[in-house]
Amino acid sequence: RTVAVVLAGGTGTRLGLGIPKQLLKIAGKPIIEHTLAVFEAAPEIDEIIVLMAAGHIADAQRIVDKAGFRKVTKVIEGGDTRNATTRIALDAVGEGDCNILFHDAVRPLVSGRIVRECVNALWTYSAVDVAIPSADTIIQVDEKDCITDIPVRATLRRGQTPQAFRSGTIREAYRRAEGDPDFAATDDCGVVLRYLPGTPIKVIDGSDENIKVTHPVDVHLADKLFQLAAAQAPRLTDHRSYTEELTGRTIVVFGG
Ligand code: CTP
Repeated sequence: RTVAVVLAGGTGTRLGLGIPKQLLKIAGKPIIEHTLAVFEAAPEIDEIIVLMAAGHIADAQRIVDKAGFRKVTKVIEGGDTRNATTRIALDAVGEGDCNILFHDAVRPLVSGRIVRECVNALWTYSAVDVAIPSADTIIQVDEKDCITDIPVRATLRRGQTPQAFRSGTIREAYRRAEGDPDFAATDDCGVVLRYLPGTPIKVIDGSDENIKVTHPVDVHLADKLFQLAAAQAPRLTDHRSYTEELTGRTIVVFGG
């Protein structure tokens, strides 16, 4: 059994809209509806659990009902932090071994290809991350905003989601984290890395358009990416991501 957990417990303070950004409409649908549609359509996914921001459970449930997402079994309230939301999700998944994919609700352009590769990698690894190379040089700074290090770019990746785990691994990592008063993490692979050291965490290729809608500019970007995807839709013959499908055309447009 493979469960997709859609993390929508945040309120989107950086976007600053007054509503959680996952409810914002892009390309005619709330962001979270686009996201859920990918997992609903993915043959590898058996069940979807949605963790929603407080006060908006009914909004999320309405979206699920209207779209007729039959794999969604629970729409429940998230926690105060992303990791708190993950903990609640682990309880909601229930006992028994399964695969669990955690995905940010605000990454609506995740592809079926990425979902499939995450689930396939779980045959070999108990923890899987999704990442892309960084086009920008990443610098490390101190509290005075002065550079302390410039890690070699070729060794760096930008982490995306989903992050996928065998249930035993992620449960054990969170169980150990519980006893740590200094617990701090912004993602779930970080919890495995820290509390189950030595666990290989496989990284599979994400995609440039699997953006996390975070700042206002991302809303425009995501909208444009959906427009491009719609223009390409008749040609989409498999689960390859939009960028993969678009790359050929983009090169023709700009280079030809
Ligand atoms: N998330 C969550 N529970 C939280 C905080 C975040 O499930 N307590 C989810 C968000 O809903 C989002 C994903 O984690 O889908 C990535 O987080 P982020 O982009 O930081 O979302 P927000 O916390 O909503 O944004 P901000 O940090 O600007 O407030």
